[in-house]
Amino acid sequence: MKPTKSPKTYRVKSFGCQMNVYDGDRMGELLEARGIAPASEGEDADLVVLNTCHIREKATEKVYSDIGRVEKAGRLARKKPMIAVAGCVAQAEGEEIMKRAPAVGMVVGPQAYHRLPDMLERAVKGERSTDTDMPEDAKFAALPKRRKVAPTAFLTVQEGCDKFCTYCVVPYTRGAEISRPYSDLVDEAAKLVDAGAREITLLGQNVNAWSGEDDKGREVGLDGLVRELAKLPDLARIRYTTSHPNDMSDGLIAAHGEVDKLMPYLHLPVQSGSDRVLKAMNRSHTADSYLKLLDRFRDARPDIALSGDFIVGFPGETEAEFEETLALVDAVGYAAAFSFKYSPRPGTPAATMADQIAPDVMDERLQRLQARLNRDQAAFNAASVGRVCDVLVERKGKLEGQWLGKSPWLQSVHFTGDAAIGDMVRVELTEAGPNSLGARVLEKVDA
Ligand code: SAH
Ligand code: SF4
Ligand code: F3S
Repeated sequence: MKPTKSPKTYRVKSFGCQMNVYDGDRMGELLEARGIAPASEGEDADLVVLNTCHIREKATEKVYSDIGRVEKAGRLARKKPMIAVAGCVAQAEGEEIMKRAPAVGMVVGPQAYHRLPDMLERAVKGERSTDTDMPEDAKFAALPKRRKVAPTAFLTVQEGCDKFCTYCVVPYTRGAEISRPYSDLVDEAAKLVDAGAREITLLGQNVNAWSGEDDKGREVGLDGLVRELAKLPDLARIRYTTSHPNDMSDGLIAAHGEVDKLMPYLHLPVQSGSDRVLKAMNRSHTADSYLKLLDRFRDARPDIALSGDFIVGFPGETEAEFEETLALVDAVGYAAAFSFKYSPRPGTPAATMADQIAPDVMDERLQRLQARLNRDQAAFNAASVGRVCDVLVERKGKLEGQWLGKSPWLQSVHFTGDAAIGDMVRVELTEAGPNSLGARVLEKVDA
């Protein structure tokens, strides 16, 4: 690679989960602290960071096509953008990327991105570098302050995963489970609120496994952190994702009935309704224990909206086992859900299991599952019509005077009226579509 001028502008493109979005934001802050400005809409950036996801096949292939697209755009604009690959593909396939894509100057894993500015200095001198360490030195402590943020902000509280579900790459790409310290989180949340956040979503691969010591030295779980953050006067809403059924505590369930700012929404992946498949997945919960857990949430907060993740076509999944998943869906009545075809990930135990399912069988199962999930989402939305609730305004809609925001149950809501981004507006939900709801403004709840 030839030496080049220091970049003046950057763009971060994040794929995958919300933790990647959070990391992407923080990489942006790091670059801005070095005087590199975000590229404006439509402008070709001098430095492009592809913040990648490794969870499924297409996600990986996408990285190479994106690298090609950045190079092509550069050629058309007669410049050679610097390209950094970050995120979980960087962690899993760093060397491979360096070999396959000479245009890439930097490869940096999710636990090492605080070192991106040093790598950039080397890249300017013409040296390519890869950093996929999982260093002991705290990444978070090395990051700059939070800048201005949107009304809804993410806060990573927990990273990594020790669960080793047999299909999943996350324990390999993100490393072991760690909890960020309580005081750091309370501090970062307060800064986010000062910077304009009205809603904070606490993030972790197993967010409900978070634990820490509060300011009095007491051991607390995620509910303790939620209760502390709820004291921030200008913070209106708290959410958290993603939880694992096995890490759920009585305290967190109870918090849903006691902390007004904790929103009535729970994303709790189940993956399958078959106990045989769950065991082969190493999920260590059963369909029944999962359903009982949801009942306890409903007891604590009767209007709670439930969401989940599903995998169809796990190796060996029979038609009867798949139908157990459909039965579980019927039993729950999800407000929203994410469903995926099983994708063999290199290095995971399931990738070499016997009885891999044929693609057409997976397609057909996914369609049947999604038809049910869509039916239930539409029913949940239809049942919301007539409800009065608060909407946090996130952005302008397509139509003149239209605003978009979220209900407490994480539904997209649109309305027309006098409002601004960041406002909390009380509305009556008046019409339901499959993916969003229309509403009539009643009053602005606060400025
Ligand atoms: N930590 C979370 C989320 C993990 S990734 C959890 O345990 O629930 C998000 C979702 O991607 C998973 O819930 C699962 O449904 C899906 N997923 C993970 N690995 C997959 C694979 N190999 N093939 C298909 N879907 C997968
Ligand atoms: Fe992956 Fe399972 Fe960990 Fe979730 S709990 S990140 S699915 S290994
Ligand atoms: Fe993807 Fe890594 Fe998140 S694999 S889902 S970006 S943890």
